Amino acid sequence: MNLGNEVLIGLLFVLKCIYFMLPAYFANMMPVFVRKINFLNYPLDFGGKINGKPVLGKNKTWRGLVFGVVIAGIIFYLQQIAYGNDFFKSISLIDYTNTSILIGFGLGFGALLGDLIESFVKRRINIEPGEVLAPWDQLDFVIGALLFSFWLLSWEAVLVILVISPLLHVLVNYIRYSMKIKENKF
Ligand code: CTP
Ligand code: MG
Repeated sequence: MNLGNEVLIGLLFVLKCIYFMLPAYFANMMPVFVRKINFLNYPLDFGGKINGKPVLGKNKTWRGLVFGVVIAGIIFYLQQIAYGNDFFKSISLIDYTNTSILIGFGLGFGALLGDLIESFVKRRINIEPGEVLAPWDQLDFVIGALLFSFWLLSWEAVLVILVISPLLHVLVNYIRYSMKIKENKF
């Protein structure tokens, strides 16, 4: 096998990892897209505090959690349907016909749970809602989503996902920031 082939196989593997993580990526982006909607716009912590500091803070809402988990389920469902198509099968990391849609909801719930855990930690160390804490803002949702799916994956896939996702996150946020959808750059 020549080098060109190996590079192509490597790139295909990265693409498969990204495709697998799409439900988590969408879940992570969804809260920002729907933040103008007034449905379920209540703080997840109901304004609760621990030692005078917010448990999660005002930016973590039921709306974000619900829309995020739902979109992840929808994306996963579409991936299950698309698995019947040869092209989509060739970029699939797992056998979608043999995998429950619960994995899709799990990827979304995990991504948002990771984000919530990060907010919880941020509030404990006096970082204001919306303030950046690198690299955890870029990794929280990835680790969370992997907690609900790692047993389906090889360690190589987990490693690629851990490296590529934060890079994609920074890139997408930069584009969104340039389009003025999001206030902070990272
Ligand atoms: N969001 C939401 N509900 C969630 C998560 C996010 O409504 N469960 C919305 C909020 O409008 C939030 C935005 O998505 O401001 C961006 O989310 P994120 O960047 O994760 O939160 P931060 O604003 O940085 O807040 P924190 O410091 O708590 O992480
Ligand atoms: Mg966050």
